[in-house]
Amino acid sequence: MAARSIIEPFRIKSVEPIRMTTPAERERFLVEAAYNPFLLRAQYVLIDLLTDSGTGAMSSEQWASIMRGDESYAGATSFYRFESVVQDIFGFRYVLPTHQGRAAERILFTTVCKPGDVVPNNTHFDTTRASVEYAGARAVDLPIPEGREPATIHPFKGNMDVGALEALVDEVGADRVPLVMITITNNSGGGQPVSMENVRQVSAVCRSHGIPLYIDACRFAENSWFIREREAGYQDRTPREIARELFSYADGCTMSAKKDGLVNIGGFLATNNEMVARAESRLLILTEGFPTYGGLAGRDLEAMATGLHDALEEDYLRYRIASTAYLGQRLTETGVPIVQPPGGHAIYIDAASMLAHIPARMFPGQALVAALYLEGGIRAVEIGTVMFGATNEQTGEETTAPMELVRLAIPRRVYTQSHIDYVCEVVADVYAKRADIPGLRMVWQAPPLRHFTARFETV
Ligand code: F0G
Repeated sequence: MAARSIIEPFRIKSVEPIRMTTPAERERFLVEAAYNPFLLRAQYVLIDLLTDSGTGAMSSEQWASIMRGDESYAGATSFYRFESVVQDIFGFRYVLPTHQGRAAERILFTTVCKPGDVVPNNTHFDTTRASVEYAGARAVDLPIPEGREPATIHPFKGNMDVGALEALVDEVGADRVPLVMITITNNSGGGQPVSMENVRQVSAVCRSHGIPLYIDACRFAENSWFIREREAGYQDRTPREIARELFSYADGCTMSAKKDGLVNIGGFLATNNEMVARAESRLLILTEGFPTYGGLAGRDLEAMATGLHDALEEDYLRYRIASTAYLGQRLTETGVPIVQPPGGHAIYIDAASMLAHIPARMFPGQALVAALYLEGGIRAVEIGTVMFGATNEQTGEETTAPMELVRLAIPRRVYTQSHIDYVCEVVADVYAKRADIPGLRMVWQAPPLRHFTARFETV
């Protein structure tokens, strides 16, 4: 059968206008935003690929669930529905709702980490790293070597380096490793999946040392789809069965439901450890809310419960992964260097390679982000030295990141194929002019998480 077009497995019931701007307007908005996309007003953005977090469109079933929200302070029906959905998919005993992923991370790390501890992860996301460091622990990234090579093709580039994990645990001692984390898919490493086999191996290392394994589950449904497509033995399993097996190797998870929960706000922390759950619950009451709402409205819990089901639908996942791959293929055909193979939720342009004339200390990723906005009103985000580097206060030298990437994150169920075709055209035009793109100088910053507020000028 001839390959047919990927079609969006939904039709559109409500629309939101997006606004065209002129090149002169964009120039002005970008200067006003000091070349930082986080400081741009969304109304001046045409296609917003800043993040796939909280930017998805809810289904009619989710909107129907919203009306069912029980807003009782304690013991709301919506909580019990949400809890049973999470227990069913993830298999963990204790479920604590939080307003988003980083609240779950903060509660987890402040409960289990003490100063001097070490937390390994395949790659920490920015907020995860910041939360670990805030708790006084050291965040160590242990991706497989292929995970740091943008052009290398590997089916599970998100995998953790199991040998490096064992060496680290031997070096620092298991008592200083309060938990190991695995991020699925590996966001900072290109949205790349982790294999079931890798999770099983990491889990075995953890269990042999008595260290709990937690999964950063943001994009668990997309990761489950990749396992089904790429790992032997999973072709006939449903994404739900794959997810259930994946989490069976772990002791708990943190979740930003703003990704594969298909909601605009929400998250949770889950664990099998009763002592940890109790300590976390106390902190939850102090900082987020009573444990049956955790800083959310009852309607948000309902939307999450339905969204977690939606995210595991096979038609949806097939379309989701195919449409991201479509963007990746078209950019590759144009010659644009991207992290290969395409990830689940985003395409990552290798800015170090595309803008080889701009050294890392002049932020090639940020420069490319600026060029994409100027050319076509597209908002992307840098994942490189702006996000993960640091300026030495004494010498002014920049510690640079291992990769200089620009992420085009695709909101879920929001843009159609013609929007994506437009993105391909704009990136191609920027690629043709790449030699003329200037580097940037950071003129103001406030660590930690400096990328959200840093200000730049062109060099
Ligand atoms: N972990 C990962 C892997 C993430 O990608 C994110 C958020 C978080 C944790 C934190 O979740 O935002 O709900 O507090 N990532 C978004 C992004 C912001 O753009 O990739 P949160």
